[in-house]
Amino acid sequence: MILSDYLAQADALAQACRALLDGLDPATRLDVAKGQLNALKDERLAELQGALRALPAEDRRGAGGAFNSLKTALQDALDAVGARQAATSGTASVDGTMPARRSWRGSLHPVTLVIDEICEIFRELGFTIALGPEAETEWYNFGALNFPADHPAMELHDTLYLGDDTLLRTHTSPVQVRTLQRFAPPVRVLAPGQVYRRDFFDATHAPAFMQLEGLAIDEGVSFVDLKATLAEFARRFYGASRRVRFGPSYFPFVEPGAQMDVEVDLGDGKGLRWVEILGCGMVHPNVIEAAGLDSEKYTGWAFGMGPARIAMSRYGVNDIRTLYDSDVRFLEQFAR
Ligand code: DAH
Repeated sequence: MILSDYLAQADALAQACRALLDGLDPATRLDVAKGQLNALKDERLAELQGALRALPAEDRRGAGGAFNSLKTALQDALDAVGARQAATSGTASVDGTMPARRSWRGSLHPVTLVIDEICEIFRELGFTIALGPEAETEWYNFGALNFPADHPAMELHDTLYLGDDTLLRTHTSPVQVRTLQRFAPPVRVLAPGQVYRRDFFDATHAPAFMQLEGLAIDEGVSFVDLKATLAEFARRFYGASRRVRFGPSYFPFVEPGAQMDVEVDLGDGKGLRWVEILGCGMVHPNVIEAAGLDSEKYTGWAFGMGPARIAMSRYGVNDIRTLYDSDVRFLEQFAR
């Protein structure tokens, strides 16, 4: 190569570098420009470096000067692009005028909140959690609970049968018997769970709903324990100023049977009224015997409540269906 060729090539490379820099506008991807500059440096500049050695000795000086200034120009261009990249990175994708995206917060369902809260209150009173199957036998659901063989609740209009002897439990009371079969007294358990009935959905009924069963069995347990514990529960759950009352009621598996009412405002403009929140009573000796225990030795009490109804009484909801509609506008009020 002769000197004039060498200088022409160096000049072409310098021009390519300048063109690249001049072509940078706000839309240019700086990483691409940087890649192109690096390619010029690694390939064409390296070529010119190698060509220096092929020049006659007297030309090398002039060519070397051109090579050095070209090398500096390329490095300066790379630095300029790098500086621009540093200045724009981090800000390029932020648009301060864009409306903030709404953040969705998950939340527990009001019925779940109520169950958790009730379990917590009874935990402080010495109760643990017990669970039983949703598919039950007739015996656990009815027979062991002292239902007479011809009790109307056993007929198809109330109970969803899965087979001759198996059904979807209509209440959580069978967990009483299952628990007493497995654990020796003293027993204090709370059994939350889903139950099923052949009911139509209306303002006060759902065909599948949660129940919460309570059971306390030991030697010498009396109705005083029942009343004191449930009244204490109501004080903690609704507040000390809320009035509760007990009245007689009937369930085959308790004797005597009772119900507890609480005075609530359901938010329908009708003001305060008594609402039944649970059924309870002294566990019938036949139930204790069915579970294999001596009813002369052990006594106890039980209760069953519907957390959905409790949620309605707590939050002033007057149609149970709103609890199952999955309408976010309703449910998000309970987010916490
Ligand atoms: N199992 C009853 C029902 O589903 C509720 C109930 C009432 C449970 C009295 C009890 C009780 O444990 O003592 O309607």
